[in-house]
Amino acid sequence: MIKKICCIGAGYVGTPTMAVIALKCPNIDITVVDSNKSRIDAWNSSNSHDFPVKEPGLDDIIKEVRNKNLFFSSDTEKHIDESEMIFLAVNTPTKKEGEGKGFAADLTNIDACAKQIARVSLSNKIIVEKSTLPVRTAERLKQLINKEKQEGINFEVISNPEFLAEGTAIRDLFQSDRVLIGCDQTKDGFAAMESLINIYKNWIPEERIIKTNIWSSELSKLASNAMLAQRISSINSLSALTEKTEAKINELSLAIGKDHRIGDKFLNVSPGFGGSCFQKDILNLVYICRQYGLDEVAEYWHQVVKINDYQRKRIFNIVNSSLVDLKNKEISILGWSFKKDTNDSRESSSIPISSDLIVNGANLKIYDPLSNKKQIIQDLITYLESKNHSLKEIESLLRQVNINKTLSECLSNSNAIIVLTEWDEFRQIDWQSKNKNTNQVNLPYIFDTRNILDIKMLKLIGYEVFQIGNGNNTIK
Ligand code: NAD
Ligand code: UGA
Repeated sequence: MIKKICCIGAGYVGTPTMAVIALKCPNIDITVVDSNKSRIDAWNSSNSHDFPVKEPGLDDIIKEVRNKNLFFSSDTEKHIDESEMIFLAVNTPTKKEGEGKGFAADLTNIDACAKQIARVSLSNKIIVEKSTLPVRTAERLKQLINKEKQEGINFEVISNPEFLAEGTAIRDLFQSDRVLIGCDQTKDGFAAMESLINIYKNWIPEERIIKTNIWSSELSKLASNAMLAQRISSINSLSALTEKTEAKINELSLAIGKDHRIGDKFLNVSPGFGGSCFQKDILNLVYICRQYGLDEVAEYWHQVVKINDYQRKRIFNIVNSSLVDLKNKEISILGWSFKKDTNDSRESSSIPISSDLIVNGANLKIYDPLSNKKQIIQDLITYLESKNHSLKEIESLLRQVNINKTLSECLSNSNAIIVLTEWDEFRQIDWQSKNKNTNQVNLPYIFDTRNILDIKMLKLIGYEVFQIGNGNNTIK
């Protein structure tokens, strides 16, 4: 029975996953370590507002288990050495340079962990790949470890990819559709897999635990994300066609989703999928396919990302042409995070769409319930830098941006309002009284890129509204 776990990476995956294991397995001591000391300090804060990851339900679990059997520490080497099982939950972003730049996963963090584990371990360890990794990474890990490990120490690498989604992480961890574990098909591989199964069995029904070989497990994670993203790109691509034909995308989603063979999930139209994983994982899949000479397969998956970029551009073009000239127009941006109920804005569609708006002269007022000002400004700077704007240009462009603390501040006196994230707060806006209290001569155009607003009611009040793919309900 495993008694001591170390998890490397205190981010969106590492902390919620370990918090749930700690809650369900009070006899296991877990320490989450991270090279980012300020992240560890934030998790150790007595004020849950300081926690770096916002997830419904997470604060309560941390309050219950922290300093009982869940610990956060910067002393990585000590906790690696003391543990029997080590989870790797470090980030694996898209490579920015070198071979595979722009497509392959950057495995620098994973390699650093492997070397550190090999160097400091004085007892046998099971290493669990929790991060999303290219197929056959376990082989690379084993090679790295065997090169640097102390004599007589054995390591078993198993794959246990994470399928939680942000905003619902705790629910997903409590009631996982499946837990996937892949191992080497050897006696030691099966034994390592069994010790992880024994942990999950504390709350996951055994029939939901899928056992595979290690390569199937690694590749299933990339494939799952690719197929989820593919559905979004499919519906988003059709939204362009419904706009031309006066069909309605929400009606299509309903009609398609009622077929139980297709199912109704992941058919919501949007300004494009965001988040740290879909794009990176598909680009990684594209790279792997190309490496194996499967160019047609690579191109098929690449198209999912291309349609996502197309949808973002399309929304910018619709706003641009509806407002005729963006120069000095005041635009309210509702929502910065890539989906509701998270403070994560990585790869959010709000970033490219807002950047295009300011580059074309618009002034923005941005409101998000959880993303903070520092993060929003940093996202814009990083994106504009990637588009080769000089620091001087970026400084000047940022003067066109205001971050609002309240929704009502953000909604006042603008020429257009763009809903980019589907926060519940935006569904509940009282447009009637907002309309009564305004002294604006012309009501702002409303662009609802999540199709969450009541378009009939808005039109009755007198607003001109655009909803994606919603037939002829388009600003003329
Ligand atoms: P994250 O950026 O939130 O957290 C990763 C943490 O790892 C960071 O705090 C970083 O400082 C730390 N780290 C990196 N290298 C380190 C090292 N060598 N030593 C110690 N700490 C190190 O990332 P995340 O969103 O939690 O994602 C982690 C992995 O899980 C990725 O591979 C991702 O694809 C995968 N994943 C993410 C989600 C999600 O919802 N975010 C869901 C499923 C899978
Ligand atoms: C996604 C997967 O759902 C998880 O299973 C996976 O573990 C995770 O990626 C990962 O590997 O990181 P996440 O990105 O947190 O989770 O959130 P999703 O709910 O999948 O949403 C991703 C993006 O797609 C969001 O921008 C969301 O708004 C968008 N989306 C989602 C749509 O545009 N339409 C939909 O119907 C559903």
